Order: sequence, then C-alpha cells, then structure tokens
Amino acid sequence: MSLHQIPNTLELDSFWMPFTANRQFKAAPRLFASAEGMHYTTVDGRKVIDGSAGLWCVNAGHGRRQIAAAVERQLMNLDFAPSFQMGHPLAFDFAARLAEIAPDGLDRIFFTNSGSESVDTALKIALAYQRAAGQPTRTRLIGRERGYHGVGFGGMSVGGMVNNRRAFATHLPGVDHIRHTHDLARNAFAKDLPAHGAELADDIERLVALHGAETIAAVIVEPVPGSTAVLPPPQGYLQRLRQLSDKHGILLILDEVITGFGRLGTPFAGQYFGVTPDLMTTAKGITNGTVPCGAVFASRKVHDALMTGPQGQIELFHGYTYSAHPVACAAGLATLDIYKDEGLLTRGATLAEYWRDALHQLKRLPNLIDIRNVGLMGAVELSPRQDAVGARGYEVMVDCFNHGLYLRQSGDSLALSPPLIVERSHIDERSHIDEIVSILGDAIKRVA
Ligand SMILES: Cc1ncc(COP(=O)(O)O)c(C=O)c1O
Repeated sequence: MSLHQIPNTLELDSFWMPFTANRQFKAAPRLFASAEGMHYTTVDGRKVIDGSAGLWCVNAGHGRRQIAAAVERQLMNLDFAPSFQMGHPLAFDFAARLAEIAPDGLDRIFFTNSGSESVDTALKIALAYQRAAGQPTRTRLIGRERGYHGVGFGGMSVGGMVNNRRAFATHLPGVDHIRHTHDLARNAFAKDLPAHGAELADDIERLVALHGAETIAAVIVEPVPGSTAVLPPPQGYLQRLRQLSDKHGILLILDEVITGFGRLGTPFAGQYFGVTPDLMTTAKGITNGTVPCGAVFASRKVHDALMTGPQGQIELFHGYTYSAHPVACAAGLATLDIYKDEGLLTRGATLAEYWRDALHQLKRLPNLIDIRNVGLMGAVELSPRQDAVGARGYEVMVDCFNHGLYLRQSGDSLALSPPLIVERSHIDERSHIDEIVSILGDAIKRVA
C-alpha cells in the first residue's frame, strides 16, 4: 500500500482539504506536480494516466497552450471588469458561443463560478420565474435521492447523498426528493441504458399528490448522476420526467455540471436523451477546468417571463462579483475553439462502444457486482466488506494511483470519465482505454 508514496516532508497541516480524509491523506499524501495531455506526473516523477479528467472537468486534456495564451493575454489586457451595470465584450461573445451549442432554445446564459453556484442560481431563477408567472405558491423544490448538486444550501438540500447532508442540520424548507434509479437487482451489468425503471419517474406524481402541484416550483436531476458513481437513467425515464413536469407546470432543471461539454458524445446530455429542460446548469468543462466558471442556460420562456416591468428595473437581484470574469470568459472561448476544432463535443460517440466493451471485460473479477457505462462515463461497483463500507473501494483507488491510474472513488464504486482526447489505439503501445481498464482490473484483483 505504501508503494511510491512520498516521504511526508511538506508542511501539510494548514491546508484543510475539501472532501478528503485529511488525517489519513496527510499521513500518506498523493501529490501531482504537473500534467500534459492524458497524464499527470506526481511529485516523485511517476506518470499517472488521468481516468477522471481531473474532477470530470479537463475534457480537452491537460496543458492546452491555446487556453494558457488566451488567459495570459486577457490578464494583461483587461484583468477584471464588473458585470453589475457594466460589461465587457468577451462576456457577450462567450454567452453567444455557448448559446450556439445549447440544447434547443436554452440560449439565455447566466454566468457563475462553479457548479454549486450554477445550481443555487438555477433554483433561485426557478422560484423567481414562478412568481413572475403568477404562481407565487410554487416554492417547493424537488431533488432526487443519490443526487449531487454541489454544496451550497440549495444544492445540498435538493441533493440526496446522505453524508453530504448529515452533519448540517439546516436545509432549505419545502424540499422533497423522488426516488433514485439505482437498481442492481434488475439492471446490473447493463451494457446499454438500464431496461428497468422508467416508472420511477412517476414518483413525481406521488409528491404532487402529497404536496399539491401548485406548491412545486421545479425538479432538478442530473441526467446521469456522476458523483454517486455513474448511474445511467433507465430507458425512457428522463422523457417521462419531462412529460410529467410539463403536465404539472413544474420546471425541469437538468444539472449538467458533469455531463455537459461532450461527456456523452453530444454537447449536452439533454441532446443525447432527446430531453430539453427549462434550465440547465453547467461548470467544469466550460473552461476545461482551468479557470473557475459556470453557467446556467435558461429557456426563453423562463428568461422572458422575468424581463418585465420598467426598463430601469433590475430584473434578477442575483449575481456574483466574478460572474463573467474576463479571464474565465477568455479561457472559456479558447476552450470552445478547441472543442470545435478537434470535434471533442461529439468524439465520445465514436469511442463509446470501445469504452463499453473494454469496461465489461472486467465482469468476472472478484467482488465485482456491477459495471455501468454511458458515453465516455463508466463505473465499476464492488461489494462492500462487512462493517467496512467504502474500504474496498478506497484500497482499489490507492492501488490504482500507485500503479499509474487516477480515478474517483465513491463508496465501493470507482468512477471513470477520461479526457475526451483519450485514444482507443496506439501504435506500439497499449491504448489509453486499455491501459486504464487493465490497471483498474489488476488493482481489483490485488485488493480483492
Ligand atoms: C452534477 C453536479 N452538480 C454540481 C456540482 C458542484 O460543482 P462545484 O464543485 O464546481 O461547485 C457537481 C460537482 O461535481 C456535480 O457533479
């Protein structure tokens, strides 16, 4: 277990690390020093293939010179400009370019700095919309079990990951959750979208019956939950959720912080599933993970309902100092150029089958209870050890790191989402995809 771990010579105490077992990590740190293309290099000089695009964000791979150059130029030209009653051209260019690739009609863009901020912004816009549309009693927000929508009070409240909620007693009032769709008994090892579970979307009817549709503003789900280790939606599920939301006058928010920007082989997951939400939240891949940035995409219906009243009236009392930060806009525009020039927003479609087949080769390994995949997302789930949920998953993650693969662990599941530049085949060398799968398979065998 201690292979390749560096001596603990750094001063590690001051940095209180997020979503990390601080004491365990600091006793045996895993530190990256640089990155290029598909690989990280650790502080002790080892190459580690990036199986998770950083944190699902480095979609165009690491070390992109074009983004670095755009950021440097922007810093020297206009390092900061306010977006409150002032503006700068790049913000408008960036929004227009995002609107070009947006799902049908979602062409009004509100900038934030992160996925959490995008989620809280979308929830607030949903509430403001209902009030503006003459339905002020619609204040209830619906999330889903096993959902992850960031860490703001809004996102935490609609989220459904128990550990993210437990320590913080205060949630938003008037929030409820529909059931999750993870069903190992019926869908384990599905190679395509799970065949069973579309009816789980009907759970929204249960909440309508319980609370009254006239109290519900919006429902928010991830098209494919990522942080709970890749849970592809059952066939027909999202379409049904869309129909039922429409039926009851409830806005549908798709949280595409992970699935946005090409992860499934289409620019956004809504396009993959043929479902257009009223609001869509994004971040991460919007700047290839280089500069913090997020965006909420709103439909004309939602946007225009708020563009009323006297001309001089601020329509939405919401925004961040760094909304549409010039450096983020510059990084984002350069990122969109790369995505376009290299066809990365659709490249996943050409690799999805190879990816799926490579992952499913792991099927017979010990303690493996599920393999999931959609687009260029994937996960394997291991059975938990008795009285030690997550221990096996953690050991596999550390073993992978020690043998040259970085991936994300969630409980006893290991999630993968490589940069979209990942190669299927190399001359003389193992392909990236084969390398990722083989290191993971060996780790599972070793840890068993
Ligand atoms: C679906 C989803 N929403 C929101 C977030 C929060 O994003 P951030 O960490 O940028 O606040 C994440 C982060 O992983 C996410 O996966």
